[in-house]
Amino acid sequence: MVSSEVSPWAKSGGLADVVGALPEALARLGHAVAVVVPRYMHAYDAPAQRVIGSLPIPLGHAVYDASVWEMRSGGVITYFVEHNGLYGRDGLYGDRNGEFGDNHIRFALLAKAAIEISRRLFQADIFHCHDWQAGLVPVYLNLSQAVDPNFLHTKTVTTIHNLGYQGIFPRSKMREISLPDWLYRPDLLEFWGTISLLKAGLVYSDALTTVSKRYAQEIQTAEYGFGLDPLLRARRASLTGIVNGVDYTRWNPETDTAIPAHYSATDLSGKRACKLELLREMGLPEHAMDRPLLGIVSRFATQKGFDIMRDMAWELLRDDVYLVVLGNGEHAYEEMFRWLTRHFPDKVGLRIGYNDGLAHRIEAGSDMFLMPSHYEPCGLNQIYSLKYGTVPVVRATGGLDDTIIDQNSPESTGYKFNDYTGSALLGTTRAACHEWYNREAWTAMMIRGMKQDFSWATSATEYSRLFQSLHPATA
Ligand code: ADP
Ligand code: GLC
Repeated sequence: MVSSEVSPWAKSGGLADVVGALPEALARLGHAVAVVVPRYMHAYDAPAQRVIGSLPIPLGHAVYDASVWEMRSGGVITYFVEHNGLYGRDGLYGDRNGEFGDNHIRFALLAKAAIEISRRLFQADIFHCHDWQAGLVPVYLNLSQAVDPNFLHTKTVTTIHNLGYQGIFPRSKMREISLPDWLYRPDLLEFWGTISLLKAGLVYSDALTTVSKRYAQEIQTAEYGFGLDPLLRARRASLTGIVNGVDYTRWNPETDTAIPAHYSATDLSGKRACKLELLREMGLPEHAMDRPLLGIVSRFATQKGFDIMRDMAWELLRDDVYLVVLGNGEHAYEEMFRWLTRHFPDKVGLRIGYNDGLAHRIEAGSDMFLMPSHYEPCGLNQIYSLKYGTVPVVRATGGLDDTIIDQNSPESTGYKFNDYTGSALLGTTRAACHEWYNREAWTAMMIRGMKQDFSWATSATEYSRLFQSLHPATA
């Protein structure tokens, strides 16, 4: 697997969680799996050993001198590609000043290094590439296949975790990453006068997947296709939706070490203790124990529905409800929540930043979890919420639609709405808050959610089947 993120060494979102857990699940099914990721500053603590001291990677007119570190754990090998000049930075993709200007080189290097690692250390039958950051792997392989017998039978799979991030660069950068100019064609890498590394992966991979069935359908439409829908429609026979699993060794209220009390579907008492502690931690009053507490943990990006939240938050917070929020990202949304906190200091608890422990405590201590996403390829937080008995309130899109059973079903595990509007979100959140007082029905719904099983075994089996259909050696 080739990825820009892997939990816990490099994480900005769900991609890291997936690449942190799927390889082990595949290993348990008998596959030999290695993961190639950059050695960012945060990965310096990983218990790895240097296995290649000098790995020269030519790109354009330059040669980058990389090295490779190896870590073995859970039946999986992780190779960290080190190049201090390119990866030894605090941010993964950018910093306070925006995206790094050399991201095309950083991820071209990752792709080339992965191919080199396969040549020297780990003969891969299949390269499983994640998102645009790995998009050049299938291109470089394709360019070298004619001359390199090592890769004659190698197959490639690209998984789309989010079509909204496409790795767009000016045509002028092609030379710097060893891409011949003839690739600049509308049916290849060209995308509206630029090049797109995601498109590169989508064009050159043998198979495509995305992280839920519903999203696999949605991305073939103009509304959710980000301009790539015609290509995805053309490749629909090679596109499958495989919903993400979650890692219940990290996300389970019975064993979670980040929460103040443990609980389960058969004994919920610890959840009240978690709520009380969360209120304290977020500086909210104790009398909120008897009121609905809504939780949010998110990247602050428009994808996540913060624009419709802005349209209704004021109205909602005039009701007798409480809100805890953890997130960071777009400045405008950070400001929106700061503003709400100033106006409703006793009702809104806010932490701007990234905090894994607090993310767990919000999952455990809240009564409901809000995810009104405009689009959501899969979404993991709503699945964590189910496990923590925290009823998800979600927009019916992508993986949110696939993983939550709506309020009108006798089997309901959460609340869903369709229209992407503040009033639809408000109406549904209010309905949930109203129902929260109906303790018996509410508890039954919590327990149904807690009993759902989204462990990786099922999804890994689907990937395994796909790999087998592509390459007999993986059968
Ligand atoms: P996405 O990958 O689009 O951000 P997901 O729901 O798939 O959405 O995954 C988000 C992951 O990132 C979850 O594990 C969530 O707990 C974590 N996360 C997001 N924002 C924060 C934050 N500010 N602090 C801690 N964890 C966060
Ligand atoms: C992306 C998506 C999210 C998905 C995650 C892991 O970041 O936004 O919905 O769960 O990738 O696949």
